[in-house]
Amino acid sequence: MCGIVGYIGNREAAPILLSGLHRLEYRGYDSAGLALLETLGAEVRSSGFSSNGKRPVDNGQRTSDNGQRTTGLVIEKCKGKVTALETLAQSTPHHGTVGIGHTRWATHGVPSDTNSHPHTDQSERIAIIHNGIIENYLSIKERLAARGHTFRSETDTEVLAHLIGEYYSESEIRGTGLDSHVSELGHRSPDAGHRTLTEAVRLALNEVVGTYGIAVVSADSPEEIVCARNGSPLVLGVGDGEYFVASDASAIIAHTRQVIYLADNEMATITRSGIKTRTISADGLSGGNEEITKPVERIEMELEAIEKGGYEHFMLKEIHEQPRTITDAMRGRILEEEGNVKLGGLQNHLQELRRAPRLVITACGTSYHAGLIGKYMIEQYARVPVTIEYASEFRYRNPIIEEGDVMFGISQSGETADTLAAMREGKRKGALALGIVNVVGSTIARESDGGVYIHAGPEIGVASTKAFTSQLTVLSLLAIMLGRMRHLSVVDGRAMIHALRELPEKVQKTLDDTERQIMELAESFKNASNFLYLGRGYNYPVALEGALKLKEISYIHAEGYPAAEMKHGPIALIDENMPVVVVAPQDDVYEKVLSNIQEVRARKGHVIAIATEGDTKIHALAEQVIYIPETLAMLTPILSVIPLQLLSYYIATARGCNVDQPRNLAKSVTVE
Ligand code: M6R
Repeated sequence: MCGIVGYIGNREAAPILLSGLHRLEYRGYDSAGLALLETLGAEVRSSGFSSNGKRPVDNGQRTSDNGQRTTGLVIEKCKGKVTALETLAQSTPHHGTVGIGHTRWATHGVPSDTNSHPHTDQSERIAIIHNGIIENYLSIKERLAARGHTFRSETDTEVLAHLIGEYYSESEIRGTGLDSHVSELGHRSPDAGHRTLTEAVRLALNEVVGTYGIAVVSADSPEEIVCARNGSPLVLGVGDGEYFVASDASAIIAHTRQVIYLADNEMATITRSGIKTRTISADGLSGGNEEITKPVERIEMELEAIEKGGYEHFMLKEIHEQPRTITDAMRGRILEEEGNVKLGGLQNHLQELRRAPRLVITACGTSYHAGLIGKYMIEQYARVPVTIEYASEFRYRNPIIEEGDVMFGISQSGETADTLAAMREGKRKGALALGIVNVVGSTIARESDGGVYIHAGPEIGVASTKAFTSQLTVLSLLAIMLGRMRHLSVVDGRAMIHALRELPEKVQKTLDDTERQIMELAESFKNASNFLYLGRGYNYPVALEGALKLKEISYIHAEGYPAAEMKHGPIALIDENMPVVVVAPQDDVYEKVLSNIQEVRARKGHVIAIATEGDTKIHALAEQVIYIPETLAMLTPILSVIPLQLLSYYIATARGCNVDQPRNLAKSVTVE
């Protein structure tokens, strides 16, 4: 959710951190901050900061006794976007070659200057940035407060900073009269005064319950950044005489493509001469505090892929990328002659897939909608029962996993906390856990027993668009593969492949033919307070997805419903003020959907229909018709969702909303 970036090397850290934060802003954008380790002369520039969190203040403790150069901790942070931080940082430039930066998505404490990260310990010599939630922070806070600690913010992160500070500096504890409480912590060793920052961080982390990706710097140990991960991703960048840490690779690929992925329960100490990694605590796999060797991997990601490329918003760029991303999702996977597909990441599990009595799909948000469509596809063509469940529900009940069940976790980011936890729960109960993931090297990708990348490239817009159609493309491939293992004939397999191959061109045509019409429609409906989206069969989940897109970026209340269910309740909402989007391609349930449109019209609702090209019948019923090309019923969602993505985009922009960074949201939900 929040974004983390850190740098240690020979260049000025601040510009590197700020440009990294811009790239990470899609992860959280209610406030931002950075901490720099600044080498000081006799004059102390700054070291802590004022209660409003805006400007650093000088606490006058930073020069060494002999007046030699020493290091000060400079913190700049404020509520708002990274540009606000940039302005703040530029107003009093600070110099340093080691630093950490953060964009926040608030969990504990409202967005404010004071609650922004970095947070400091009691001495204001240690700064931390954190992504995740420390669940037991209140009890730790109470204990520390009883020992004289004072807290400036409402955050859980500040408590962790104080705890690290306690472990780090015995002299400071003596100085503040806290030594009598040391034994209460129960972890302090007799030589605590000489503890390294790494050890202090590790001991503190052994006390906390929760999730974290953290980076820590200290003015008393200015040649290192200590970072650690448990439940929130961290990637370390290996440059030429310089090193980076980030919550995702987009923050650092302008500088290096050589990376090390930290896994849960791992931490790293980064200095100018290298990276040392170790485990944090005993977890059944390791005894804790054991040095480990991690492989350096190369990430394939082009810089252009994370830039807007001339579009006003990432979301619009990503909508327009779909003809290409759908092609990429199929690339190298089709066995035309055999009417089949080959999914490399599933090759080792063909037996289990062939024998599976049931598939279990778990996901959240848009990925869940893709999973619902996947269930319909797989059940129709492979005749294997598929259960689908929101990951957040699956993980906390006692789900039944039976012998041979195969689980699929679908996630664009590969980091969604609930999906990851649901996958782990399924695995624990004996399921084979497979992923359908976009971000290469993400946690779900790494922890799965196998899986399929959707290859949509970086998706930066918070509203998921291209990932959805790529997920659907991969799910169609999976339906063909599972079908061919069972009842699907080669002829039918070939027909499906043929239809799939035609899709990118049809998506392009949909974009070309409908965009202008949708812009005009958006103008007419931008002031609506509510929207209803209806669909049946394969297009019921598309109705859910259309409603989700609209509400998340335009803040208009919208509901998606199975069209026939409307008369069991939502029909009461329909009057002359209600726009109703009906997804009605010519499939098996087309005639039924026409009846549903009649029901809406009879109550004076405004119908906007998504229909198959050449359908004149629907024209007489709906006020507005948006046409999509004809395709196989199973593939209609890949076309019918395109006008809905555009509609939400243009309504949101007409209302002046920031579509790439909608309020209260973050791209990747790494907290539960
Ligand atoms: O990264 P994931 O696919 O696991 O994310 C799941 C949801 O958080 C995500 O789809 C969310 O609903 C999007 N904002 C929808 O546009």
